[in-house]
Amino acid sequence: MPLPRRIVLVGPMGAGKSTIGRQLARELGYHFLDSDRMIEERCGADIPWIFDVEGEEGFRQRESAMVRELSEVGASVLATGGGAVMKEGNHEWLKRDAVVVYLKASLEQQIERTRKDRNRPLLQNQDPEAVLRRLFELRDPVYSHLADIVMLTDRKSPRLVVRQIINRLNPRSPRQRRKVKKEDRNHA
Ligand code: S3P
Repeated sequence: MPLPRRIVLVGPMGAGKSTIGRQLARELGYHFLDSDRMIEERCGADIPWIFDVEGEEGFRQRESAMVRELSEVGASVLATGGGAVMKEGNHEWLKRDAVVVYLKASLEQQIERTRKDRNRPLLQNQDPEAVLRRLFELRDPVYSHLADIVMLTDRKSPRLVVRQIINRLNPRSPRQRRKVKKEDRNHA
């Protein structure tokens, strides 16, 4: 099976989209594209500033434009922001020539991985756990609907997740499949 032209990673904050995406791109010899970082570069300001000055809707417009623009870049792995799937108009651009991978993390993992975060405006409030829970309820069905592959990331190293994604995309030899399966068992 040939590799897809693009691999698009979706999932909640703290699922590891950027870390896993960068490693996956390196393994495949693909370009790594991080939507949030590219919005920041384009804008010359960080995401908290964009939310402050333009509001969430301003950020979402920039995000939609970026997702659309990046849908043209072939041989790429795209890490999206956690909310990019919530505008239905983005779905066409996310899915374009792509295999969409949902990096799924439990609420506990999301909480743990975002605990000290200061760069995610949606979590800078009294009860970030309640926000993550609410967002998970709203977004999990959308991620699942959009995804070609759902990959659980809890208690797995980025390296293992990358290996498992590659195996799902392009299962090579039976020997390699057995190796990944064995690692799956060890991390189950
Ligand atoms: C957001 C997730 C963030 C970033 C912004 C909004 C969200 O990206 O796009 O703070 O709505 O879930 P990460 O998923 O990379 O943290």
